[in-house]
Amino acid sequence: MCGIVGYLGKKSATDILIEGLSKLEYRGYDSAGVAVIVDGSVVVEKYKGRLANLEEKIDSNKLVGNVGIGHTRWATHGVPSDLNSHPHTNENQTIAVVHNGIIENYMVLKEWLQSEGYKFKSETDTEVIPHLIDYYYEGDLLDAFMKAVKKMEGSYALGVVCKEEPNKIVAVRKDSPLIVGVGEGESFIASDIPAVLNHTRNVYLLEDNEFVLMEDGNVKIFDFNKNEVKKEIYHVTWNADAAEKGGYDHFMLKEIHEQPKAIKDTLTSRVVKGQKINLDSIKITKEQIAEIDKIYIVACGTAYHAGVVGKYAIEKLAKIPVEIEVASEFRYREPLINERTLMIVISQSGETADTLAALRLAKSENARVIAITNVVGSSVAREADDVLYTWAGPEIAVASTKAYVTQLIAMYIIALYFAENKESIRSTEIDKIKSELLNLSEKAAEVLNQKEKVKAFAKKIYMDKDMYFLGRGLDYAVAMEGSLKLKEISYIHSEAYAAGELKHGPIALIEDDTTVIALATQEYLFEKMLSNIKEVITRGAKVIAVAMEGHDVIEKSVDDAIYIPRVMPIVAPILSVIPLQLLSYYISIEKGCDVDKPRNLAKSVTVE
Ligand code: M6R
Repeated sequence: MCGIVGYLGKKSATDILIEGLSKLEYRGYDSAGVAVIVDGSVVVEKYKGRLANLEEKIDSNKLVGNVGIGHTRWATHGVPSDLNSHPHTNENQTIAVVHNGIIENYMVLKEWLQSEGYKFKSETDTEVIPHLIDYYYEGDLLDAFMKAVKKMEGSYALGVVCKEEPNKIVAVRKDSPLIVGVGEGESFIASDIPAVLNHTRNVYLLEDNEFVLMEDGNVKIFDFNKNEVKKEIYHVTWNADAAEKGGYDHFMLKEIHEQPKAIKDTLTSRVVKGQKINLDSIKITKEQIAEIDKIYIVACGTAYHAGVVGKYAIEKLAKIPVEIEVASEFRYREPLINERTLMIVISQSGETADTLAALRLAKSENARVIAITNVVGSSVAREADDVLYTWAGPEIAVASTKAYVTQLIAMYIIALYFAENKESIRSTEIDKIKSELLNLSEKAAEVLNQKEKVKAFAKKIYMDKDMYFLGRGLDYAVAMEGSLKLKEISYIHSEAYAAGELKHGPIALIEDDTTVIALATQEYLFEKMLSNIKEVITRGAKVIAVAMEGHDVIEKSVDDAIYIPRVMPIVAPILSVIPLQLLSYYISIEKGCDVDKPRNLAKSVTVE
């Protein structure tokens, strides 16, 4: 859960590393550091705190060199501190290492290395790595590195520089992301593409257990047995601006506004009027679909909430029973999986440790796995049988927004695809939903036009200590997502409840002036929802409602209301989530919180 970069070329390594790290801070920001080869020595600067702190303290006169590695940390082993920051080195600082992941057997390795006379300075698992390389070093960095890596268990993306071989960087990945950027006479490693995009669009997407040797502007890739691997260059087509804020104050606001485009892109070529759903990336056949007797949808956080909508859509359209579960629970029970089970994992990053573990569990029981992910070449994409990419573009803000709506689109596409193959509902019904999907992009833009109204709500309620989100059916699924958004970026305590469940306990929490956000977009549940709204108003709550146009009768009951354009209830979550995202955003701004990098969180959770 960290970001790593490396540079080897002719320019100032320090500048390029710092710039690259600034694009990776979403991966963690407990500390930052660099190691640069300066006049044949390894010079390290690293500090607790954000990258800005490193930039402030760094002595650039001291760090003049063209080869280096850098790191931005999300702490796991060892508290955030200067000492625990990366890069870590061997005792005489001839070898420096940056690491993203966890070395699970580090205690055993540490004890062994200590018995060999090695001295440790930090509390981290990572520190065993430079000592291990030092132990094996006999004049060939790549050889020593490979021997060291073979001793490690766990997950890692690693970058290494060495005083004895100052024109080289070696790297490897296993279960943590790493790409290699290839420029003119220069090369890069990075945890994610935006870190290199100002310098090159040509990258290698590494597979697990692939080693990289960068030397004098050349890049070679080797497998675990040191056979050279010939890889295809992946040419990045999306714009560098896509990874920048593009004029918005925060990535989150930019990403909320990118939703109409993300919806359209994710539908493109898959849902076409008058044609069957086209999923050429998914190879599952009609016969195989007929064999499925149960679907598990497994994911974490926001992706899990997309799965809740997915369950509803698949059961309603494809008539296949679906269980939805958070990955951290799923992986440690004994779920009933067999070759007739289909698992759908959803993960924006494609690197979430629990989701990946659930995927592997399903595969080990011979289930077929479909991955819905936003990151090409990510771990879940590589390990699943089939992949459906969400074309949301890079999502930088920790709070997921555009990835969520595209995950919903992906779920609808899969549900429709199964329904078409199983002929489980009438084709006219399928066509109707397709048309609805194709109009959603414009309707999402209409919802965004109401942002000033949402901003005004935020100004009224940002001082609240607690808020409740209520809904029925799919509105309950969206309520969960709204509540999570609010918690993570504004630090206000909030809960989501199925509105019909209120009377069974939670209504005791409602008192004078408690804010309730009530979702009432599901036409067939509207009257029931109105009754639930009345129940909380009677107990003193102030209510903001999200309803469908034409249901303005709701204004008689609530304090404020916002309307989404009319759509079929099944696709309403795509629109009704937008006011909730905006509400959380503006509340967070009013409270002065760090919107894009909320406390204690990281964008991609690659540890359990
Ligand atoms: O990358 P993933 O979709 O697997 O991430 C899952 C969750 O960590 C993520 O959705 C998290 O809940 C977000 N911060 C929510 O905004």
